[in-house]
Amino acid sequence: MVKVPLNASTFGEEEIQAAIDVLRSSFVTMGAKCLEFEAAFAKHMGVRNAVFVNSGSSANLLAFFALANPEFNLNGLRRLQPGDEIIVPAVTWSTTIWPIVQAGGVPVLVDSNPETLQMDLAAVEKALSPKTRAVCAVHVLGNAVESEPLREVCRKNGLAFIEDTCEALGTRRNGKFVGTFGEIGTYSFFFSHHITTIEGGMIVTDNDDLAELLRCLRAHGWTRHLKNRKEVEAKYPDIDPRFLFVNSGFNVRPTEINAVFGLHQLKKLEGFNRRRVEVAQTWNEAFAPLIRAGHFAPMRSTPGTDSTWFGYPIVCRDRKTRDGLQSHLETNGIETRPIICGNLARQPAFKMIPHRVQGSLAGADKIMDCGVFWGSHPLMSDNEISHVVDSVRTHFK
Ligand SMILES: Cc1ncc(COP(=O)(O)O)c(C=O)c1O
Repeated sequence: MVKVPLNASTFGEEEIQAAIDVLRSSFVTMGAKCLEFEAAFAKHMGVRNAVFVNSGSSANLLAFFALANPEFNLNGLRRLQPGDEIIVPAVTWSTTIWPIVQAGGVPVLVDSNPETLQMDLAAVEKALSPKTRAVCAVHVLGNAVESEPLREVCRKNGLAFIEDTCEALGTRRNGKFVGTFGEIGTYSFFFSHHITTIEGGMIVTDNDDLAELLRCLRAHGWTRHLKNRKEVEAKYPDIDPRFLFVNSGFNVRPTEINAVFGLHQLKKLEGFNRRRVEVAQTWNEAFAPLIRAGHFAPMRSTPGTDSTWFGYPIVCRDRKTRDGLQSHLETNGIETRPIICGNLARQPAFKMIPHRVQGSLAGADKIMDCGVFWGSHPLMSDNEISHVVDSVRTHFK
């Protein structure tokens, strides 16, 4: 039987050879290759700064801790204080939310649209309160939040606009990459994502001071990897400049091995994404009669978005239809999974954390109860694509 896994390994001999070269060079921890990957990524995205870290979760961690740090100084925005609120969609990955709580913030969950899977802009405006300090948009599964109007809401209300772009590297809105609309964009290079460094993540920002703060938080609060290191060190002549700590911090550094993977993978990104789109379009066309009959609807791109299809998410007419289809696909060798974490407010972990829910989360519930996705990775063969078409059609016959 044809097997259709959610993901396939997209790295090859080039990445493997480059990793071996790093190991043979004996310089394996964060160094010149990481800087080279950061520069290449920043150039590709058209931003001033890119800060490479060891995961997308770490990228979010640093983003929210930067917002709460005493050194935070960005366009007159107010620093995150304990108990302040950050608006996020109910349908996202868990580590969009946990770092907000760890940084002392209170996540405010708003509903998600079951057609696009993206956060509901009207609900964001309703969620605003005197305690709101930021909106964290999440570009879910390669589609995108309508970033321009949301950025306007943030501007008008003096809020930081953060984009968790861990699922949408390479997605454009009206020609501009998502993750570059707000003050901070975060990306993940986990194995299954648009490109992989095995584990890895990136933070982008056009603000140089914020980038320096992120670099400091990334590595122990140390000055070692700061661009303005000499300037800072000159202020403390009585301390050995090689071991000078000017802030609190973590260790979420990547390695040179991750960086050489990234350098090769970045060159392949556009090609990978073209194939993702091709695969999804083939299914959209093949399933048109079933969609018209109302059995299910695939994710719809928001107006102005060129989605890059991190998987092929569909929302079925009801839970029974979803459960039946899911079980049929699994029996036929097609691997499936829920749409991210579903409505996160229903996950048991939420009993442990302070949070607020804005209005109804009916859209997020629909996504959780009736949604499913299977893979649309760039190495998917025509045979696998046809097997999915045949299996879905047979089920609804
Ligand atoms: C929306 C979102 N944010 C953050 C992350 C975390 O990224 P990582 O797995 O690299 O830690 C993910 C992971 O899939 C994600 O989907």
